[in-house]
This record gives sequence, structure tokens and C-alpha cells, in this order.
Amino acid sequence: MKVEENGTAKLFFLSSAFWFVLGTLEGIADATDMVVPDLFGGISWLVFSRIRPMHTTTMIFGFVGSALLGASIYIIAAVLRTPLWSERLGKVSLWIWNISIAVGLIALDLGYSQGREYAEWIWPADIGILLAFALIFYNCFQTAVKRNEKIMYVSSWYILAGLVFTWIIYFFGNAVWNPEKGAIYGLPDGILAWFYGHGIVGLFLTPLAVAVAYYIVPRVARSPLYSHKLSLVGFWSILIIYTHIGSHHILQTPIPTYLKVIAISGSIAMIIPVMTVLVNLWLTMRGRLGLFHQDIGGKFVMAGLVWYIITCIQGPIQALPVVQRMTHLNNWVIAHSHLGVFGFSGTIALGGLYYILPRITGRPLYSTRLADVQYWLLLLGMAGFFGVLTAGGLVQGNSWLNGETVYRTLPMIHVYFVLRASIGVLFVGAAFIGLYNIIRSIVGEPATESQEFETEQAIGLTQ
Ligand code: HEM
Ligand code: HEM
Repeated sequence: MKVEENGTAKLFFLSSAFWFVLGTLEGIADATDMVVPDLFGGISWLVFSRIRPMHTTTMIFGFVGSALLGASIYIIAAVLRTPLWSERLGKVSLWIWNISIAVGLIALDLGYSQGREYAEWIWPADIGILLAFALIFYNCFQTAVKRNEKIMYVSSWYILAGLVFTWIIYFFGNAVWNPEKGAIYGLPDGILAWFYGHGIVGLFLTPLAVAVAYYIVPRVARSPLYSHKLSLVGFWSILIIYTHIGSHHILQTPIPTYLKVIAISGSIAMIIPVMTVLVNLWLTMRGRLGLFHQDIGGKFVMAGLVWYIITCIQGPIQALPVVQRMTHLNNWVIAHSHLGVFGFSGTIALGGLYYILPRITGRPLYSTRLADVQYWLLLLGMAGFFGVLTAGGLVQGNSWLNGETVYRTLPMIHVYFVLRASIGVLFVGAAFIGLYNIIRSIVGEPATESQEFETEQAIGLTQ
């Protein structure tokens, strides 16, 4: 049987679009639950405690993770000018990945959870995810070994390192050697859990999203990367700093003081890796912003980078204990989570998908207009979420500091919950539009020769 070039990346994109729809439906169910807690009448598989971890893991692994893995697999082959080492192995890893996500989610809905944030999936799902990461890494690594291009562009560094680090934090963070509980004991488990929870966004989503941005920005700008040296400073500094600042999630607990000091100072030092990436990319696209408005993939990436700046200004500030007195354990953090996981990494993942998909199928997207509608719905949705949740969080934080009781605070934030659920409808619509557009782009009629030529021109393969 003929193996289709880039078939793995294409199927990862399709999976991502499917998980995005499911994830937004779960998000709406969660948000509705917080507005009208009795609505679902205690139906066990719709209770908040089950749907919430389903929502977070569907989004992190299913939607954003799948799109970033698809883009990474395509990019590593493209920048090393070598076909993926094995498309067959790629497809095997894709199925293991998707089946593991499904197993984890179904088990959660049936009430089987390991109860640690972002690590709730039962152990068979954990084993599958680890296996999928290992196979994807092996495939990418072999591609690098067999590469035709001598120079390894910075995207490939981020992809390979991201995969290795994710495997390590996933293995330790889920305490895979203790399958029954997926945890160790007491306070050290809290430290371990947040080494993991922090790492899954910082060492899985972040490096892969940065790899995608480093690939797409110079191409859309039609300009070489401003500085390769700077890109390597960013690469090494994120690995050195991001790996051990997870304790900024648990500053209010009796963990050792030195861990808190490392976490807080490291959070401030995160300015270095973040700014090197952003400055490098801004200088690459300087004077060429118009090109990003013409290219739907570039447009998503650009928006993702703007959200990245905001996330990473907010992050170090909210790592300060004096700020956390107001912001910790309330909707302020939920705003930051959506900003980071969706605004930054999710938007860049979509940018990667829309930029790469036509290059795989050899014909333009089914509808650039639909992708544009999706872009605006998501942009408005994200801005709305951020404003509403931050405001709601500040009300909660203030009332806590003023000694208010929870039952008097809840009515105050009800309106923010209603707004969040309403804005969520934009996300649901956007996810369905995306799924439709992506399916139609993939299963469209094969391109005729003249269409192929037009596509090549449109996507810049010929002049
Ligand atoms: C339909 C749109 C969405 C709605 C209505 C929604 C709603 C929610 C709700 C109600 C929670 C629980 C908040 C709490 O426990 O107080 C939550 C958490 C979360 N959501 Fe969403 N969400 C949506 C879209 C997304 C997207 C697109 C992503 C990422 C790609 C995402 C990622 C997360 C994450 C990571 C959390 C955990 C936050 C934390 O614990 O700090 N959500 N979401
Ligand atoms: C400069 C970089 C960043 C710093 C210093 C930072 C700092 C923080 C801090 C201190 C918290 C805990 C707040 C609290 O509980 O009071 C937090 C939560 C969180 N951050 Fe960030 N952040 C950064 C970037 C990001 C990025 C890029 C993402 C996503 C890709 C992200 C995703 C999250 C999520 C999901 C949470 C919520 C965890 C939870 O409680 O469930 N952060 N961040």
C-alpha cells in the first residue's frame, strides 16, 4: 500500500479539530453548571467534578496537543529537508495517542479519576500517552539522523527537546510506577504534581508552539530569522528556568522556603526566554505586518504571539506572594489559564494547522473565509473570557481579603459566570466551523493540474 507523504500530520490536524469541538462542549457544560448548578439534575456523567477534568485534558492534549504534534511532525521533516522517517510509525503513534485520550476521557466520565490536576487519567491512558510520545520522538529523531540539511533550524531543537522533556515530566508527574494511585504521598506529592502541571503547559505546549511560530513567521514575512544566536539563547534559557518553577502554584502551602524562592525568582527570570523569542520574531516581521493579514495561518500565529506577551507579563506578576493574596484560587487564574493554553498555544496551533494543511493536501483550504470567521470568533471570545474572568477573580479576591463569606460572594460573581457561559457559545461555534472546514479541506476533490498551479502560487511554492 502506498504511504501518503505527511499523512500523519494531516490526521493529527483532523483529530485536533474533533477534540476541539468536544472540549468546547465540555467547557460549556462546566460553565452552565456554575450558573445553574441543578440543571443537570445530578446526572452522574454530567457532574462538574467529572466534566471539568475532561474539559481541561481534552483541550490540552486533544485539541492543542494534537495540532502541535501534527505541525511539529510536518515541520521537522520540512526544516531538515527529509521526509518523515516512517509515516507508518507516525500513524501508529497517532492511533495510540487518540485511543489513550479517549480511554482517559471515558474513564473520567464513568468516575475513574486519579484526582491530580491535568494528571487525572487512569494508568492505561498514561501508558498509551507515554508510548505515543516515545514513538513520535523516535520518528522525529530518526528523521534528524537521516537529514539532508546540515543545519538544524531552531524549530527542530524545540520539537526534539519538548518531546523528551514532556516524556520525563509525564512519567514522573503521573507517578507511573504507582499505577493504582498515580501519586506519591503527602506534601512531596503536591510538589511533584505541580512540577508536572506546570511542565505540561511550559515544556509541552510552549516549546512546540514556539517551534511553530519560529517556522511560520519567517516564511510568512518572507524574510530570514532576525537572529539564530538569539533563538538559541531563548531555547537554553527556557529549559534551564522553566523546568523547576512549578512551585509558584503552591506558594501558600508549607513547602520548603528555598523552593518558593526558586519558583518566584525563576518566574521573574522567565522574562529572558520569553523576550528573546518575541523580540526575535518581531524583528523578523518588522515592516511586513501586512503579509500576516493576508495569510490566515500567519494571522493566527500573530494573534497567538500577542496573547503570549500578555500571558507572560501576567505570569511573573502573579507569581509574587503579595499579588497572589488577591489572585490565587479564584477566576483570575482561570483567565490566565485560558490566555496561555488557548490564547497563546491554541491560537498558534491553529495557525500551524491552517498554514500547513494546504501544503499537505496540495490545494487551498476549503474556505479561507470560514477560517477567518473562526479567527474573529475566537479572538473576541478570548478577549471576552479574559476580561470577564479577570474581573470576576478580582471581586472574589477582594471579598476574600475583606473577610466576606463564600455564600455572600457567590451572588456577586454570578453575572460573570453567566457572561462566561454566553461567550463560550462563540468558542463552540468556532470549533464546529473549524471541524467542518478542515474535513472539507481534507476530503475535497483531488486538485486538477491548473488548480495545483494556482495553489502553488497562492501558497508561495512558485513565483
Ligand atoms: C466553550 C468555551 C469554553 C468554556 C465555556 C470554558 C469553561 C471552563 C470552565 C467552566 C472551567 C472551570 C473553571 C473553574 O474550575 O473555576 C475551565 C477550565 C479550564 N479550561 Fe476552559 N472553557 C472553554 C474553552 C477552553 C479552551 C479553548 C481551552 C484551551 C484550549 C480551555 C482550557 C481550560 C483550562 C486549562 C482550564 C483549567 C483552568 C485552571 O484550573 O486554572 N478552555 N474552562
Ligand atoms: C512567563 C511565563 C509564565 C509565568 C511566570 C506563569 C506563572 C504562573 C503562576 C504563578 C500561576 C499560578 C497562579 C496561582 O495559582 O495563583 C500560573 C498558573 C497557570 N499558568 Fe502560567 N505562567 C506563565 C506562562 C504560562 C503559559 C505560557 C501557559 C500556557 C501555555 C500557562 C498556563 C497556566 C495554567 C494552565 C495555570 C493554571 C494552573 C492551575 O492552577 O490549574 N502559563 N502561571
